Amino acid sequence: MSSTDTGIAVAHEVIERHSFALLEATRIYHTVWPDPNTRYVDVVAMLNRHAGYPGFAGLLARESTGRAVAMAYGHTTCPGQWWHDRVEPELPPESAGWLDDCFVLVELAVLPEYRRRGIARGLLERLLRSRTEARAALSTQEDNEPALALYAALGWRPIAGPMRFAPAGTPFVILGRELQGSW
Ligand SMILES: CC(C)(COP(=O)(O)OP(=O)(O)OC[C@H]1O[C@@H](n2cnc3c(N)ncnc32)[C@H](O)[C@@H]1OP(=O)(O)O)[C@@H](O)C(=O)NCCC(=O)NCCS
Repeated sequence: MSSTDTGIAVAHEVIERHSFALLEATRIYHTVWPDPNTRYVDVVAMLNRHAGYPGFAGLLARESTGRAVAMAYGHTTCPGQWWHDRVEPELPPESAGWLDDCFVLVELAVLPEYRRRGIARGLLERLLRSRTEARAALSTQEDNEPALALYAALGWRPIAGPMRFAPAGTPFVILGRELQGSW
């Protein structure tokens, strides 16, 4: 159980492939990123696919009532994975090789009514402190001010972008941070 400054206590629970926790993480994803064109079952399938990747790690945050209120997950990024193969060519020379020994933070989402209570900070610290990769990376929307503020506060910095994953899509920035010896 971890307590935050604002008094809410959350328990962290490991997300595993084909688990009930993964279904709850899917519900949080669906609530935070509502998209009428995306079916719940497709998000379940996506999370299960990611949960099968090497180095997968995921956490739910559960409040004292038992309600799952936030989730975070990622995995070791490898050639052949969609995100890796889209981002690697976008790395400028000063970030070359960043993805070679790297954990990609794929999703981080906190239900709206539970934000600004340190829940994301707690999830990320727990998720990243036991990683063995040298570095971490993630993509977030160029205009996602809460996420950019969170990551800046936790020592992430821009390593590439802005870039688009879809031709007419939102521009994303790629952020990175060293992992070893930093927690
Ligand atoms: C981004 C998000 C995960 C932050 O979760 P959170 O639990 O509210 O974040 P925390 O309470 O742990 O915030 C830690 C620090 O990050 C910064 N921060 C977080 N949200 C912020 C905001 N809206 N405005 C300014 N700073 C913010 C602050 O420095 C904060 O510390 P403080 O509250 O002591 O000032 C949450 O807003 C969210 O789920 N957004 C929608 C999904 C999303 O964008 N995910 C990330 C995509 S990569």
